[in-house]
Amino acid sequence: MVAAEAVPLAKTGGLGDMVGAFAPALHRSDVRVTLMLPGWPEALAAVGDAREVARFDDLPGGPATLLAATLPGTDVPLLLLRNDALFGREGPLYVDADGQEYADNPLRFGAFCRAAARVAAGLPGLPAVDVVHAHDWHAGLVPLFVRETGAPVRTLFTIHNLAFQGNYPLAWMDTLDLPAEARGSEGCEFWGQLSFVKAGLVYADRLNTVSPSHAREIVTPEAGHGMDGVLRPRADRLSGILNGIDTGVWNPALDPLLPKGFSAADPAGKHRCKAALQHRLGLPEDAFAPVVALGSRLTHQKMADVALEALPFLLNRYPRLQVAVLGCGQPQYEQGFRMLQQRYPRRVVVHIGYTEALAHLLHGGANILLHGSRFEPCGLAPLYAMRYGTIPVASRVGGLADTIADPVEHDPQVARANGFLFDGAEPAAMVEAVERALAAYSQPRVWRQLQRNAMQADFGWQPSVAHYLALYAGLIGPRPETAS
Ligand code: ADP
Ligand code: GLC
Repeated sequence: MVAAEAVPLAKTGGLGDMVGAFAPALHRSDVRVTLMLPGWPEALAAVGDAREVARFDDLPGGPATLLAATLPGTDVPLLLLRNDALFGREGPLYVDADGQEYADNPLRFGAFCRAAARVAAGLPGLPAVDVVHAHDWHAGLVPLFVRETGAPVRTLFTIHNLAFQGNYPLAWMDTLDLPAEARGSEGCEFWGQLSFVKAGLVYADRLNTVSPSHAREIVTPEAGHGMDGVLRPRADRLSGILNGIDTGVWNPALDPLLPKGFSAADPAGKHRCKAALQHRLGLPEDAFAPVVALGSRLTHQKMADVALEALPFLLNRYPRLQVAVLGCGQPQYEQGFRMLQQRYPRRVVVHIGYTEALAHLLHGGANILLHGSRFEPCGLAPLYAMRYGTIPVASRVGGLADTIADPVEHDPQVARANGFLFDGAEPAAMVEAVERALAAYSQPRVWRQLQRNAMQADFGWQPSVAHYLALYAGLIGPRPETAS
């Protein structure tokens, strides 16, 4: 398994959560999985004593070593590619202190992909590989490089976020020594650029994304991020498998980051968590005030702009409403939320940044999670919220449409309704859905049923691991096709 992020070693969003939870879940089945990550400083520090298992002297970007350890907290074998000139930078993974993408990202991840292909083709002392599972654009060149080695190894490429494509000037094809036959528009070239993600989409033996709905969406021009034309001819190789969540880390009954545990059967502790959240943020400790949380990257994808328009209307209309924001992202939205806090002191608290501790308290203490998305391949934050009895109000797209059932369609007293959905990106639609949630919140029996449904849903990894096992099994054997 090849990825740029995996908790607890590296995370900028859901990719890190998914890989860090999926690898151990897979490891518990009868698959022997090895995870490979760049040697980020925090990762090297966290694994402690790593053993050098290989040296690469001819990678782009200079010599690198391959270190073996285990993913902390698990016994999943881990490989870290160490080249401090490429990966040894403090701060965010992909951008500099000013938020600008590092100019040498194609070199960093090109080298990473080359090294991963070498591992896949076989190195002394490491297990032989049947299937390489590569995640997102950072690992996009792996399927091509694996083919180039000629090794009988199959590849799966998982799309977590097609908006991030790793597109760079064509000259990088020379630097990364791409084979001549892969350089054209049938290969890695995308509108005059080298595209890491397109390479993954074209050369992997199988493709998937992280929910069934999103697999249907990305073959359309509206939701394909320009890659729908690449995906359509390969649609028979593309599937959607919903992410699970780490139900050990996200367990409200035993969460050390909560002041008191609670469960669907014994929900009383949630009141303590709400009071603690209000206290922590400096909000009035009003047990009946509905607390609406926003806990995501503050970006256009996550409808930060729409929320900034919808929230003043809701705050004016519902005098007891409290809003708690935890996240960071595009500067104009961070600024917009800071201004919202100034406009509604002691009703809106904005925490720009991200910590796991505050995220757990946010999900544990809030009543409603507002999670608008213009597109959402899976959407883990609402799954965490639901497990903590916090009812999501979210967009009817991708994985959100697959995991959230709205009481309009499902009577909460009898069925499985667990949240509220809205369509499109109009503030009025978001407002209407939040108002329906607030109306349900004012009816304790209805609300408790929604909470029970949300908390009891099975969002663990088991069913998804079974789907991945079937995918891997289908890959082993003669290569079914050549690159399209
Ligand atoms: P995405 O991957 O698109 O951001 P998900 O909902 O799948 O969306 O996953 C988001 C994960 O990242 C959650 O664990 C969430 O708590 C966390 N998160 C939210 N905002 C940030 C942030 N600014 N930095 C790091 N992680 C964040
Ligand atoms: C991406 C998507 C998100 C998904 C996550 C993990 O970042 O935006 O929807 O949950 O990856 O697969």
